[in-house]
Amino acid sequence: MRHFLDLHKLTSEDLRGILTQAAAMKTARTGQPKGAPDDGVPLAGRMVALVFEKPSTRTRVSFDVGVRQLGGETLVLSGKDMQLGHGETIADTARVLSRYVDLIMIRTFKEETLLELAEYATVPVINGLTDASHPCQIMADMLTFEEHRGPIKGRKVVWAGDGNNVCTSFLHAAGQLGFDLTFTGPEALDPDPEAVAFARGKGSTVEIERDPLKAANGASLIVTDTWMSMHDPESARQRRHAMLRPYQVNEALMAAAGGNALFMHCLPAHRGEEASDGVMDGPNSVIFDEAENRLHAQKAIMRWCLRV
Ligand code: CP
Ligand code: NVA
Repeated sequence: MRHFLDLHKLTSEDLRGILTQAAAMKTARTGQPKGAPDDGVPLAGRMVALVFEKPSTRTRVSFDVGVRQLGGETLVLSGKDMQLGHGETIADTARVLSRYVDLIMIRTFKEETLLELAEYATVPVINGLTDASHPCQIMADMLTFEEHRGPIKGRKVVWAGDGNNVCTSFLHAAGQLGFDLTFTGPEALDPDPEAVAFARGKGSTVEIERDPLKAANGASLIVTDTWMSMHDPESARQRRHAMLRPYQVNEALMAAAGGNALFMHCLPAHRGEEASDGVMDGPNSVIFDEAENRLHAQKAIMRWCLRV
């Protein structure tokens, strides 16, 4: 069975195949209304459950629209309205949902929940974000980078700020697709050492540079994310903001990269915190292309999972 749980768990050939199919499907839809079905409707007759234990705009809408474009049907479920939110185990939930649907996408807290769901489900499971990773986002980001700048292999990506779940998936992608990553942020929020080790083990250069302006030198892409992820406790807000403020992506940081670096943010953003308005809306920002590409990337991920 093909689960899409994390980028380091697939082969780089599989990831490349998904990206190639996503780009082709995107091109094929040029000029089509958003609700028009894709040729061949490869998910015809398939039912997809989209389970959310955390809020979402992009993941919810892009998966729902993507399934419909592929000719399938969706059930969007809120974890707190399910028995899952009232004591039913994830293992039982997995076995029950598998009797009704052909594919399960889940956004949850602990990575263990995702892994347990995949262990007990008899249909493929897709990771729609956990506290630990966000692989669908980075597939969209890879598609976006290569549309604008060509192959990402050999490029330097700078991650500025919190070494969080999205950063972890970037490190997995670095190893799988052959790019280098420099992290610039406070030591207390350094990236996951296992993800760093994975990327290095695959031959990528991963550097930690506390000076953001030095880090930006030679970057093809600068990426940041919110200073407070959905799983971060409110009590940590002040401390995190104080630590992260020097790592804001602003005009000075983009200039230090040399003027040609793209800017990415998975969104939702807190404008004026992790990134300035000038950068978010600037000429090198591709944030809305990233959001659009969630749709195309995830359609290819679902086709890969279901082999259709
Ligand atoms: N980037 C992202 O996953 O956005 P949502 O939280 O809106 O789904
Ligand atoms: N790091 C953020 C990403 C949101 C899409 C979070 O986990 O809240």
